[in-house]
Amino acid sequence: MTALTLSTSAAPGLRADAIVIGVAKGAKGPVVAPGAEAVDTAYDGRLAAVLETLGASGAEGELTKLPAPDGFKAPLVIAVGLGAEPGRDADYEAEALRRAAGVAARTLAGAKKAAFALPVEDAAAVGAIGEGVLLGAYSFNTYKDNGAGTGTGKNAKAKNGRTPLAEGVLLGGKPRDAAHKAALARATAVSEELNRARDLVNTPPNDLTPAAFAAIAQGAAKEHGLKIQVLDDKALAKDGYGGILGVGGGSAATPRLVKLSYTHADADKHLAFVGKGITYDSGGISLKPAGHNETMKCDMSGAAAVFAAVVTAARLGLPVNVTGWLALAENMPSGSAVRPGDVLRMYSGKTVEVLNTDAEGRLVLADALWAASAEQPDAIVDVATLTGAMMLALGSRTFGIMANDDAFRSAVHEAAEEVGEPAWPMPLPEHLRKGMDSPTADIANMGERMGGGLVAGLFLREFVGEGITWAHLDIAGPAFNEGGAFGYTPKGGTGSAVRTLVRLAELTAEGDLG
Ligand code: BES
Ligand code: MN
Ligand code: ZN
Repeated sequence: MTALTLSTSAAPGLRADAIVIGVAKGAKGPVVAPGAEAVDTAYDGRLAAVLETLGASGAEGELTKLPAPDGFKAPLVIAVGLGAEPGRDADYEAEALRRAAGVAARTLAGAKKAAFALPVEDAAAVGAIGEGVLLGAYSFNTYKDNGAGTGTGKNAKAKNGRTPLAEGVLLGGKPRDAAHKAALARATAVSEELNRARDLVNTPPNDLTPAAFAAIAQGAAKEHGLKIQVLDDKALAKDGYGGILGVGGGSAATPRLVKLSYTHADADKHLAFVGKGITYDSGGISLKPAGHNETMKCDMSGAAAVFAAVVTAARLGLPVNVTGWLALAENMPSGSAVRPGDVLRMYSGKTVEVLNTDAEGRLVLADALWAASAEQPDAIVDVATLTGAMMLALGSRTFGIMANDDAFRSAVHEAAEEVGEPAWPMPLPEHLRKGMDSPTADIANMGERMGGGLVAGLFLREFVGEGITWAHLDIAGPAFNEGGAFGYTPKGGTGSAVRTLVRLAELTAEGDLG
C-alpha cells in the first residue's frame, strides 16, 4: 500500500521519481495551478507556454510529462489536468484535485516516490489529494505471475512495473497543522479500507466464497475491536432466514449472515448498513446467458462497501454506533437450488414466490433488512448491485438512491455529492407494487419489467421495520468498471458507496443527520 506524508520541502531539493503539478484550463490557454511556483520559476515563468507547446490544455484527465528543470533532484515533472480554472477567489474543487492526483498516481505505477505539488488551500484539499493518490495508485496483482515464474500468491509482485507507487509526498500540506494531519489520517483510513473493498470485489468467486468473506470479516473484527456474529447455514435454518437460505441453497459454498458491530461510548445514534453479498450471481435456475455472467463476481460489492465503511468508522473512532450486515450467498443452479415457482418463508414471516431466481439480491437483503430492523436503528442504508435496470437508467458511473423518507434521500444524496460519488434520487412509485402481487404468496420477487430498479426498491421496502428511516443505494452501474481506468477509478472493483457510507456515519456522529 502506498504511504502518504506531508512535507513543507521545496520541490527542487526533493529526491523523488517525479514532481506532480496541476494545469488548469484558463480563458486563454493552459494555466499553471498554485503549488507549482518553484517549477514555473525554474522554467523562467514560461511553464504555461511550455505546456501549451506540448499540447496541454488543462482538461480533466490530461497528463503531460516534461523534463524537470536544471537544479531539480527529481528528473521528471508530470502535469495533470484540473479542468476549468476556478473563478476569482474560488478554490479548486476537491473532486478535481482527487481525480488529478489519481491520474498521476496511476501513471506512477512502479515508481518509488513522487511529490505532489498541487494547489492546497485548506485541509479539505489535503484530504482530497491524499485520497486521489491512494485510490489512484491501487492495482490488483494478487493473481498475477511475479515475472520469475515462481507462482502467484499474496506477496507476488506484478511484472511490467505495475506495483503501486510506494510513497507519495504532499507538498504544501502542513505536517504540524492539526487539521491537515487529521485530513491525511482520514484519507488514509478511508482509502485503505476502500482499496480492501476493491480487493474483495476483484477476488475471483472460487476463492471468495461466503465462508471466506465471513472469515475475512472475522479477522478485521479482531484487528479493530469490533463485535462480530456469523450465522452459518445451520444457524440460518434454525432462525428461519428463508431468503438467504433459498438463494444460497444451490451452491456447495453455503451462505452466511455476518453482523459486524462498531460501538462508541459517547454515541447516541445508531446506523445500520446492509450489503448485498452475492459472491457469484449465475442467475441460478433462471441462468444468465453468456455475456452476462463474466463480471458477476462483483455482485458482493454492496457487502464489501458496508464492511469497509464499518471498519473505517472504527479506525476513525467516530462517536456513533454502526452495525454492518453482510448477506452472503452464492447464486448457483443445481439440484438443491431454489426453482422459479418455489415459495420461500422469509425471516420476517412473509412468504415470497420466486418467479425468477436471478432476482436474488432482494431476497437476501429482505432477510438482512428485517434482522437490522429488529434493533430499531435510527436509520438503515442498504447497498446493492441490484438491477440491470438501474444501469440502463443512470449509466455506469451513477448510483440510484431510493428511500422511504424524502429528507433522508436528499441527505444521502448530499453526502454522496460531498465525497465525489455521482448519485441520483429515484422514486418508489406506489402503482408498481401491484405488479408483484402473487396468487400464491404474500409477494413475488418480480414485477413489471419497466422501472425494474424501482420495483426492486419497492420489494425491499416491505422488509424494513415499521417507522424506520431507510435508504437503498443501487450501485449496479458504478460498482465495477468494465471500461478503462479514469481519474482515481481503476478497472474492475471500484469501492462504490464506501465514501458515502463513511460520510453518513460522520454526519450522524456530528448530529447533522436524522
Ligand atoms: N446482480 C444482478 C444485477 C446486475 C446486473 C448487477 C448487471 C450488475 C450488473 C441482479 O441479481 C439481477 O440479476 N437482477 C435482474 C432482476 C430481474 C430478474 C428482475 C436484472 O436486473 O435483470
Ligand atoms: Mn441476479
Ligand atoms: Zn445479483
